[in-house]
Amino acid sequence: MLKINNLHARIQDGAEILKGINLQINPGEVHAIMGPNGAGKSTLASVIAGKEEYEVTDGEILFEGKDIIEDAPEERAHEGIFLSFQYPVEIPGVTVTNFIKAAINENRKAKGLEAMPAKEMLALVKENSEKLNIKRDFLARSLNEGFSGGEKKRNEIFQMMMLNPKLAILDETDSGLDIDALRIVADGVNSFRSEGNAVLLITHYQRLLDYIQPDFVHVLADGKIIKTGDKSLALELEEKGYDWLLN
Ligand SMILES: Nc1ncnc2c1ncn2[C@@H]1O[C@H](COP(=O)(O)OP(=O)(O)OP(=O)(O)O)[C@@H](O)[C@H]1O
Ligand SMILES: [Mg+2]
Repeated sequence: MLKINNLHARIQDGAEILKGINLQINPGEVHAIMGPNGAGKSTLASVIAGKEEYEVTDGEILFEGKDIIEDAPEERAHEGIFLSFQYPVEIPGVTVTNFIKAAINENRKAKGLEAMPAKEMLALVKENSEKLNIKRDFLARSLNEGFSGGEKKRNEIFQMMMLNPKLAILDETDSGLDIDALRIVADGVNSFRSEGNAVLLITHYQRLLDYIQPDFVHVLADGKIIKTGDKSLALELEEKGYDWLLN
């Protein structure tokens, strides 16, 4: 589904941050990326999603066999790549539900489809909000306005489930997840994951990986993936830290 070859990227006119990343994600897989602060994890997520503040200087990003480096972030979203915190904006007067309806219909329009019939949309909102234990009054609130950390998280996972991307990238690094938020993310990801999609989960929390069983764990340090393993690697990191991998 996603194949990254020798990816180098930098901040526009700035220092190189990604220094030769190779990564392959197949349908049905969950990959976790861990690594020290400042390693380039969030940058990798942003570069895959196409954020314009970064410039790819070498390598390729193939999504379903097609190089997407020239595609704008919206195009990548339409192709089925979702990045959490892609929509962190506060929009007074636009409710959680209306925002996600608009995003879904945007995606459909890009594919030449009609807007989703209201009945179908309603059923989808119902199904996913029930899965995530989201109350009706939350759906009617203005997007992100005064949301607590946990509510933001819930909304983010709700957006992911509603948009139903092929590849979901979740960057849990800076979000100060408490136990509730951890559960929200874990339950959401577990109910989302299927044979047809894939998840790239960036996290510092070994605990999160107790709830979400990853197929692969990668350690990213100084712009490179320096080690790949299975879930036991996360446990080893928890115990030993990163020092033994760095020199
Ligand atoms: N837009 C930017 N402008 C300036 N420097 C940046 C920018 N984006 C990233 N960097 C720098 O690139 C390096 C990698 O940052 P990045 O956010 O990708 O790290 P990270 O692995 O996600 O760290 P953390 O675990 O703390 O979230 C850091 O030194 C950071 O300061
Ligand atoms: Mg980060």
